Amino acid sequence: MAEDLIAPSILSADFAKLGEEVDNVLAAGADIVHFDVMDNHYVPNLTIGPLVCSALRKHGVTAPIDVHLMVDPVDRIVPDFAKAGATYITFHPEASNHIDRTLQLIRGEGCKSGLVFNPATPLSYLDYVMDKVDMVLLMSVNPGFGGQSFIPATMDKLRQARRMIDESGLDIRLEIDGGVKADNIAEIKAAGADTYVSGSGIFGKGNDGDPHRYDTIIRQMREAMAAVSR
Ligand code: DX5
Ligand code: ZN
Repeated sequence: MAEDLIAPSILSADFAKLGEEVDNVLAAGADIVHFDVMDNHYVPNLTIGPLVCSALRKHGVTAPIDVHLMVDPVDRIVPDFAKAGATYITFHPEASNHIDRTLQLIRGEGCKSGLVFNPATPLSYLDYVMDKVDMVLLMSVNPGFGGQSFIPATMDKLRQARRMIDESGLDIRLEIDGGVKADNIAEIKAAGADTYVSGSGIFGKGNDGDPHRYDTIIRQMREAMAAVSR
């Protein structure tokens, strides 16, 4: 089983000092940077694009950047994110007319590829492309906003996705996104996840940009996960 990776979603960071926020959360022990791209079309919100990804790289961020595309169309923007320094590029299958082609495009650009599943999206989209994904991302909220509550049915879906990945024998990460906090991360790990996105759970209320709070919350998450053996 792959090591557990904590992926703070910068959607909940202070955008006015984004470089510093990312530095602080990585120094506090986070593993990868989750980068939410919203287009006010596929989802009803608008966030950040390749320029910001590139700015983080120029700022000196060397950790993997996990670009979660909530955009339609997908393909046009993939090469731009590859050039901007994305490590992973994941997309929602409903947003691409040619899922296999988009997965190949992402890998062809030198990035790791992944499919993202909304709460009501079936895992069967994986059936014929399992060998073309490096990451399966299950949404435990409907995409578009931070700070929503974890949808409980995602636990069974996680177990199902874990079985599919294990049976494939392939090296694929299983990421969870939405409503992940220190108090439910153990249960999420037990259901099979190995990569944990958390936005408001890490940057959210009370943190006030105080980097020591990031240390505390990430330590709490790791302690909670340490109690779970797989
Ligand atoms: C939602 C985004 C998430 C979001 C998670 O569409 O994909 O990455 O930032 O936020 P929290 O952890 O607050 O649910
Ligand atoms: Zn996300």
